[in-house]
Amino acid sequence: MEERLLEVKNLKVSFNVGKKKLTAVENVEFSLDKGKVIGIVGESGCGKSVTATSILRLVPPAVSIIDEDSQILFDGEDLVKAPEARMREIRGNEISMIFQEPMSSLNPVYRIGDQMLEMIRTHNKQISKKDALDQCVEMLKRVGIPSPEQRIREFPHQLSGGMRQRVMIAMALLCNPKLLIADEPTTALDVTIQAQILRIIKTLTKESNTSVILITHDMGVVAEVADHVMVMYAGKSVEYGTAEDIFDHPKHPYTIGLLNSIPKLGSGQEEHLYTIEGTVPGLDEMPEGCRFCTRCQHATEQCRKKDPGMREVDGHMVRCFLYGKEGEN
Ligand SMILES: Nc1ncnc2c1ncn2[C@@H]1O[C@H](COP(=O)(O)OP(=O)(O)O)[C@@H](O)[C@H]1O
Ligand SMILES: [Mg+2]
Repeated sequence: MEERLLEVKNLKVSFNVGKKKLTAVENVEFSLDKGKVIGIVGESGCGKSVTATSILRLVPPAVSIIDEDSQILFDGEDLVKAPEARMREIRGNEISMIFQEPMSSLNPVYRIGDQMLEMIRTHNKQISKKDALDQCVEMLKRVGIPSPEQRIREFPHQLSGGMRQRVMIAMALLCNPKLLIADEPTTALDVTIQAQILRIIKTLTKESNTSVILITHDMGVVAEVADHVMVMYAGKSVEYGTAEDIFDHPKHPYTIGLLNSIPKLGSGQEEHLYTIEGTVPGLDEMPEGCRFCTRCQHATEQCRKKDPGMREVDGHMVRCFLYGKEGEN
């Protein structure tokens, strides 16, 4: 039996920009079972980071509003309504997050080991220094860092980008979170290191039954590790299903476009890469109807007037008039 960890329903997040209230994310729905990986994919500006940071309520509170009809059920508890004190408990404890640029999350003036020790000790005040150090070394080994006993004495700048990202993963997993949110964790790394890091995330989480939200603009990255995939476009989910559904039977023209843009290694055609023409609209210039209509070859009058809503097609969800009958959202 699969056990549900997270259920996001009808997520809507807006920002106050000047005198305007602009909506960045709308109608986003997905769920995640224990020990599973969901990939959230879409070009830059589609609302992936806003979705992820909303789960931890890390969107800037002064300017952002998570709609009160949104639900983020984490192990049954609605995080939209949880008190801030409870959110502080959850962050870095039950839910950990890693970002694209590990240098911005590691403190440059402290040794790796000291940063890890502090992490362990904030979550377990009783632990002895020796046990905590052993835990650090063990975790660094698990993420594939050679000679961890020496590495813990080094400063962040002494490590390569890939090694720093491994340290971040190790730190994120130290408190054994139920959920790991990885926002473009491999974007700054070269392809070989990317693949290694993804494999590490996949094995470690399978071993400890941690669930993962993996955010990326790169379909190739998702193909490596995801069990489920949600494709986002201009703040809405446009296709959602198992990785198999999305890769073998993609339906939405945007998903198909993203899949066609994956470089095929060794094809010798890397430089003739397909790209979807046009750009993601800004928050104050969203087209009416289907948001992808301005870039879609199949767009009709109907698409320009009305949002298609999510509908079930061949066992997964698609927001497109080309298929099936209208559902909701
Ligand atoms: N603090 C903010 N204030 C105003 N607009 C924001 C803020 N943060 C993000 N946005 C806007 O929300 C949209 C989605 O952003 P984001 O989630 O960062 O996209 P992605 O992670 O998919 O690249 C973008 O149009 C972005 O400009
Ligand atoms: Mg982002």
